[in-house]
Amino acid sequence: MSAAPRVYTVAVAGLGKRGLHHAAACAKNPRFQLVGLCDIDPARLETARQQFGVACGHTDAVRMLAETKPDVFMFCTLPQVRLPLIQAGLAAGVRLIAFEKPIALSMNEALEMFRLLRASGVKSVVSHQHRYGAHYQRVHEIIAGGGLGRVHTVYGHAIGWMMHMLTHLIDYAGWYNGGADPLWVVGQAAGREKLADAHVSPDYIAALVQYANGVRGVFECGAGAPDVPEVDSMWHKCRIGAQGTSGFAEVLTGKAGKGGGWRAVTAQGAQSGPGAMDYDHDMPPYVQDIAAWLDDDQQVHPCNGETAYKGFEVMMAALRSVVQRGRIALPLGPGEPELKALARVLPA
Ligand SMILES: NC(=O)c1ccc[n+]([C@@H]2O[C@H](COP(=O)([O-])OP(=O)(O)OC[C@H]3O[C@@H](n4cnc5c(N)ncnc54)[C@H](O)[C@@H]3O)[C@@H](O)[C@H]2O)c1
Repeated sequence: MSAAPRVYTVAVAGLGKRGLHHAAACAKNPRFQLVGLCDIDPARLETARQQFGVACGHTDAVRMLAETKPDVFMFCTLPQVRLPLIQAGLAAGVRLIAFEKPIALSMNEALEMFRLLRASGVKSVVSHQHRYGAHYQRVHEIIAGGGLGRVHTVYGHAIGWMMHMLTHLIDYAGWYNGGADPLWVVGQAAGREKLADAHVSPDYIAALVQYANGVRGVFECGAGAPDVPEVDSMWHKCRIGAQGTSGFAEVLTGKAGKGGGWRAVTAQGAQSGPGAMDYDHDMPPYVQDIAAWLDDDQQVHPCNGETAYKGFEVMMAALRSVVQRGRIALPLGPGEPELKALARVLPA
């Protein structure tokens, strides 16, 4: 008789929209046991504690982690809170840290976070979970199956602004490009309004990426990026895909009842199907794959932190290109914090 699969203990910090998604997905999965919850807002913390029946709740993540010593630490804070929570998770001896995109506010911060993660051997997972959508998967299947011939271009655009949306676009386009390394980036940006937003961004950014396999990436994000008129929901107006020598395949992120889906033209002709981004659909396999990776080092999570790091590097390289002008070669080292430098040079 085979042994029962191991149950992994989980603590979640940041109990806003995304923290509750994470907690709910773990609460429903028998491979996980929620042992600790944390939010700096005591009312949010108490509501979540009651909802999930978790005894340990703290307004300080360090105390929660010290008390619960979980296998998995998930944190879903706004982008301003990253490095200290990575440090807190590592100090508590967790085996995996799952956290939200964007992974950091600057390349310096990302470099330090991943230096610490790599040195400790702790796994990391970042919430680029849209890829679990059936429409995203179908587009991947067509591309990976050779339906487009030789892929020469991958692309993504969204009207949501950069720190919300751009790493999603880069992550899925990179997946459609077989995970090839980005070599260099050229970027341009416009508009200062969103520099005051919690997801600090230029209002609009464009990035051209050269990948090691010769494929070109084309990305646009924010006000002025192309509309996706098929989708009637602002955050879900994203179009991501690939073009090759025999056709194209692309996903329109979409939302239930508001449009979305996939379409392709290949040597077999035109095809299309429905689809919509849905947290209830995408979060269960996202957390299941965390258990699978903890069970077996070979079962690397599709949203692993190293892939997210590469995508973040592309976004930071685009900002450096705006500031320095010209092509920015990857990988990136430390430098002037990119968003501060952008604020210095972007005209009104
Ligand atoms: N992957 C996705 O599909 C997706 C979707 C929406 C948002 N996001 C990302 O998720 C992150 C969180 O977004 P949200 O909409 O859930 O935000 P939110 O504001 O609803 O929740 C954040 C929570 O973190 C808490 N918090 C702040 N600092 C803390 C700390 N030091 N310790 C513990 N708790 C702390 C806040 O009190 C708040 O409750 C953002 O980075 C956002 O970009 C991802």
